[in-house]
Amino acid sequence: MKVQILNGSPRPNGDTVYILERVKSKFPPNTEFSTLNTYEENIQPCNDCRYCWEKEGCCIRDKMDTLLKDDYDVLIIASPLYMSFVTPPLFSAISRLNFIWSNHFFLKTSKEMKAKKGVLILTGGGEAHGIVYHTCIIPDATACCAKGIEFVWNGDHAWLDDYPEAGTDITVTGRLEIYEEDGSSYLHLVDAELTWEQEILQ
Ligand SMILES: Cc1cc2nc3c(=O)[nH]c(=O)nc-3n(C[C@H](O)[C@H](O)[C@H](O)COP(=O)(O)O)c2cc1C
Repeated sequence: MKVQILNGSPRPNGDTVYILERVKSKFPPNTEFSTLNTYEENIQPCNDCRYCWEKEGCCIRDKMDTLLKDDYDVLIIASPLYMSFVTPPLFSAISRLNFIWSNHFFLKTSKEMKAKKGVLILTGGGEAHGIVYHTCIIPDATACCAKGIEFVWNGDHAWLDDYPEAGTDITVTGRLEIYEEDGSSYLHLVDAELTWEQEILQ
């Protein structure tokens, strides 16, 4: 199995890389990892040159080609949150995917990427008041956005060993309760139990 990592953190021993290493340790021993560190690779941002309005692909040649080679089975995107978004060099890389939309819209062609699994790691900072927050994401009925609900998980659980693999279907049960924080009211589940049946990254 080949895993392509797109790392948006500038800190080689930072929080994102810490979690990344833990996630990597969950893959089988013969997994081949390839990492693009966006702070080192100087991937150019899209400059709206409009080449892709008239021709297939993107005219800029840089390490973005490694991603577009599409020879991997899993893509891991990892980034600290900066102003609630991925870091600027990672956003430069993501902006370069706009040619897929332009080719599709103007040329009626589309670059076929093979189906693959994905992992998204986002780290953030802030005062957590010593509380660990768990959230399950519930894709909503429109499949457009995702909603989540916080829950307070019963018992002690070691990150990452006691957690389900990314992408696992989970069931969370608990008691719905309103709590106040910094003058706002929130809903969460307390006394929650978390169960799951299947793991996908095997
Ligand atoms: C410029 C800047 C903007 C940030 N913006 C956010 C933010 O919007 N939300 C958040 O939760 N954390 C924010 N943070 C905190 C980082 O996301 C957090 O410290 C992260 O764990 C750093 O990851 P790293 O050690 O892999 O670089 C910001 C940090 C910096 C330097």
